[in-house]
Amino acid sequence: MGELKALNVVYHFNHSYDLVPIHLLEKYVKTSDIENLLLRLQGNGLITKQNRGYPGIKLTFNGLSILALHKLRHQGVVEYIGKVKGEGKESVVYGGYSDENGEVVIKLHRLGSTSFKKVREVRDYGGHNWILTSSVSAGREYNCLKRLMGALNVPRVFGYALNAVVMEYLDGKEMVSVKIGNPEDALDFLIEQVKRMYKLGIVHGDLSEYNVLVSNGDMYLIDFPQYADAHTERGKKLLERDVKIMLTYFQKRYGIDMDVNQVVEYIRRDVPSEP
Ligand SMILES: Nc1ncnc2c1ncn2[C@@H]1O[C@H](COP(=O)(O)OP(=O)(O)O)[C@@H](O)[C@H]1O
Ligand SMILES: [Mg+2]
Repeated sequence: MGELKALNVVYHFNHSYDLVPIHLLEKYVKTSDIENLLLRLQGNGLITKQNRGYPGIKLTFNGLSILALHKLRHQGVVEYIGKVKGEGKESVVYGGYSDENGEVVIKLHRLGSTSFKKVREVRDYGGHNWILTSSVSAGREYNCLKRLMGALNVPRVFGYALNAVVMEYLDGKEMVSVKIGNPEDALDFLIEQVKRMYKLGIVHGDLSEYNVLVSNGDMYLIDFPQYADAHTERGKKLLERDVKIMLTYFQKRYGIDMDVNQVVEYIRRDVPSEP
């Protein structure tokens, strides 16, 4: 298919060109009518055309995501894509399905702005390379979930490609929109999860009431692309921040008082400072 080939070529040359010259597509996409092909891709919102002294092409977020979905389909990781299940600061999360993995979610990473909700209508994220940062982010999340699954309450992860990560669908709600019946137990459980994660050498780095899902009475940690190595300075700082955010939430919402330093000390206890 010429369209997919063209998207692939734009993705590939995006590593070296901010704006991929059209003549490179003419060279690598074998079609008699490149103009028409590009018009179709543009009409479907998968690329934009620009002129900066030379005519060139950029992938849009949808273009990158369609390419990622084709790759995942090819790998057999996902067969169908469904409705939007969630939307976060830096991603859109779709439902999906495959025979092998059953009901899944596909998290499409979309970095490039501090608040993408504000710029969701804007197709071009300007200066830096959001395509690469989004793909790096997806790869990091996949690797982290792979290391943690089985040992912690996190979604099982099934695969990734470009900016997309495919993982287990958790039928639940963000903790912020749930009234927890036994908040002391819930907080203890979360502290134990953070401690177990720390022992495995990982700090979440963005823990909050939005990144805990409550599903059938169980709690799961999600959203890992910014995780840090526990043994680094960054990891140590982020651990303190994670604990503080979690305790502040339980204090404000449920009136539970716990000391941040004591909890951090408890999490660090018995964990050697070197890997
Ligand atoms: N495995 C999952 N199962 C069900 N819903 C999910 C899953 N992962 C994410 N979501 C939903 O999508 C939202 C955004 O996902 P998240 O990983 O937190 O990304 P972001 O970095 O954009 O906040 C979550 O708050 C949640 O509502
Ligand atoms: Mg989140």
